[in-house]
Amino acid sequence: MKRCIELASKGLGETYPNPMVGCVIVYKNKIIGEGWHKKAGENHAEIEAINSVKDKSKLKKSTLYVNLEPCNHFGKTSPCTNRILNDQIKKVVIGTKDFSDKINGKGIEILEKNGCKIKVGVLEKECFHLNRRFFEFHINNKPYIILKWAESDDGFVSPLKKNRLKKKPYWLSNEFLIQRSHKWRSEEQAILIGVQTAIDDNPSLTVRVFKGKTPLRFIIDPNNRLPKSSALLNDNYNTIIINKTINRVQYSNEWIKINFDLFKKELTEVFKRKKIQSVIIEGGTKTLNYFIEQDFFNEVRKIRTEKKLSSGVKSPKFKNIFVTKDIIKDNSIEYFFNFSTKTH
Ligand SMILES: NC(=O)c1ccc[n+]([C@@H]2O[C@H](COP(=O)([O-])OP(=O)(O)OC[C@H]3O[C@@H](n4cnc5c(N)ncnc54)[C@H](OP(=O)(O)O)[C@@H]3O)[C@@H](O)[C@H]2O)c1
Repeated sequence: MKRCIELASKGLGETYPNPMVGCVIVYKNKIIGEGWHKKAGENHAEIEAINSVKDKSKLKKSTLYVNLEPCNHFGKTSPCTNRILNDQIKKVVIGTKDFSDKINGKGIEILEKNGCKIKVGVLEKECFHLNRRFFEFHINNKPYIILKWAESDDGFVSPLKKNRLKKKPYWLSNEFLIQRSHKWRSEEQAILIGVQTAIDDNPSLTVRVFKGKTPLRFIIDPNNRLPKSSALLNDNYNTIIINKTINRVQYSNEWIKINFDLFKKELTEVFKRKKIQSVIIEGGTKTLNYFIEQDFFNEVRKIRTEKKLSSGVKSPKFKNIFVTKDIIKDNSIEYFFNFSTKTH
């Protein structure tokens, strides 16, 4: 199952709206086939793994391991349960049930009805964590929200305006963390910032120093202060501007009006309409604090740097359970999980 998770993880950022799935086929205690789901519309992991087995006669006496319940419905591809049954694989070990409406136990039911021996719940927590974005979307009807920022040793996210270049991001983190930040962007379906950051930094929020997709960009701009010259409105990537007054589509940009008194509810509706399973929020402080105050997040990634600023924009405030830490040269990343919005 650990190998299934390892294989599945290769699909991070590529499989939306599908989950990440890895599959391993074992014959007499040896792995004889493996595969993972690479992209929506392409083969599911089970099919990739079965196809990779050279001697198909061994399948009848093999066990199939998979981190997520096999599907039993026709989507862009045919049901994995059909293929498992057609190839007469009699033992299937599953990490976690698929809680999405379409499946929700039906894959397990069909396999059992047709004589397969099933074991569910092997490394269940790890398998659930792997697909936490997919599950948050299907169980709680909202995207998985990650808050991310970098702060100085003395608790600021940026210096005073007079101490920095105009309309350029001020990077507190080191070059490795900049690359890591771009990798993180590529893993999520959407990215969001507040309008003041868009004005001060004129960022493009694209993925540049890592290979991967640029997420759909959201700007929270209640009073339409985003300048027309903003980099976010003038490239070929899509931007959504959440505001109080305008509904409009222009080139690759869309203005969506919401009622800011119902911010959490209405923004969740927009995310749902756009089928967004995950969002990374990159600041600034006011925006991050709005999400923290409304308990509208699942995970925090806080980068601590050794730089001292002594003044500027204060970093966001929050209390939560600190889980783990990575150290990369003179920077560290602290990960926190918001268990009050836990889905499992
Ligand atoms: N170190 C880092 O990781 C990092 C990351 C990003 C940004 N920054 C820095 O942070 C600074 C800007 O931070 P900031 O706190 O001043 O501004 P901000 O969070 O970028 O933008 C705040 C503005 O966005 C709008 N807004 C966002 N969420 C809202 C909500 N839920 N409800 C209503 N309005 C909402 C409001 O616009 P209105 O004022 O129009 O109402 C608000 O004043 C920049 O200088 C930037 O360099 C640092």
